[in-house]
Amino acid sequence: MAQLFGHTPRTVDNALDAAGIVLRGRGASVLVSTVTDSINREVMDGLLPELKLIANFGAGVDHIDIAYAKSKGITVTNTPSVLTEDTADLAFALILAVPRRLNEGMAAIRTYEWQGWSPLYLLGHRVNGKKLGIVGMGRIGQAVARRARGFGMAVHYHQRTRLHSSVESELGATFHPKLESLLKAANIVTLHCPHTKDTHQMINSDRLALMPPSSYLINTARGALVDEAALVDALKSGRLAGAGLDVYANAPELATGLRDLPNVVLLPHISSATLESRLEMGERVVINIRTFLDGHTPPDKVLIEEVG
Ligand code: 8YV
Repeated sequence: MAQLFGHTPRTVDNALDAAGIVLRGRGASVLVSTVTDSINREVMDGLLPELKLIANFGAGVDHIDIAYAKSKGITVTNTPSVLTEDTADLAFALILAVPRRLNEGMAAIRTYEWQGWSPLYLLGHRVNGKKLGIVGMGRIGQAVARRARGFGMAVHYHQRTRLHSSVESELGATFHPKLESLLKAANIVTLHCPHTKDTHQMINSDRLALMPPSSYLINTARGALVDEAALVDALKSGRLAGAGLDVYANAPELATGLRDLPNVVLLPHISSATLESRLEMGERVVINIRTFLDGHTPPDKVLIEEVG
């Protein structure tokens, strides 16, 4: 019987450091991780030679040193497909909330600041008819694109590899081989690519400067895709109209000044926080472990080519 290293619900405050994970997981052949666990060389070295499988509860794996795992013969799995629709829903909630200034409206009600209807009060911008720029057209990006069509938006996208023409026409999506051209064209940009060394801070001050001043940035993928200090500057100076964020590079810490900006909708990493997603993520973790322990390739094995 394999020894499993799971964890009970806990907050980021009492997340384990490398030594803590090694101490608790010693002798285990399977490690179940979440986004708050940094599974680095130190952890893997500490758990070898027993450790054979890292079964991540979640889709993103940038907290795991995948290349090192591969070099040590450790299999890594994740739970990609079950949280697609919920993450796309949350991204779309932000796509609607930011231009329509829902946070400011809610705050005005709660603080008794609202004096009643007036024609120019909390004017936002129309979403219908606008161009949505999707960075990363994997499962979640495509699910966002389907929603965008329903809301009458024109879908533009950028990623390394162009989609098959049949998928492109089904989604009505226009491909931009260059990120820069997408950023210049879109009214709202939403990020759905993995965080890797190539995509680290891909949205930096130079690229933010390319976006029209009336445009918005939405990020439900990973905080480190964005240079957050540059984003705060762009939002403060009006070079960008607003942002909707569910993820932060140093969560739960926020970049200096971000919390104080009126033109941001900030959520605490809840894109897949539905009972349905959480149950199905757990089921995938169990299926991946069971399949691996039965001697087969787990269905959600992470390939280094996908995230490296
Ligand atoms: C998860 C996520 O809740 O799956 C992901 O990559 O970012 C989240 O939606 C988290 O990863 C759980 O570990």
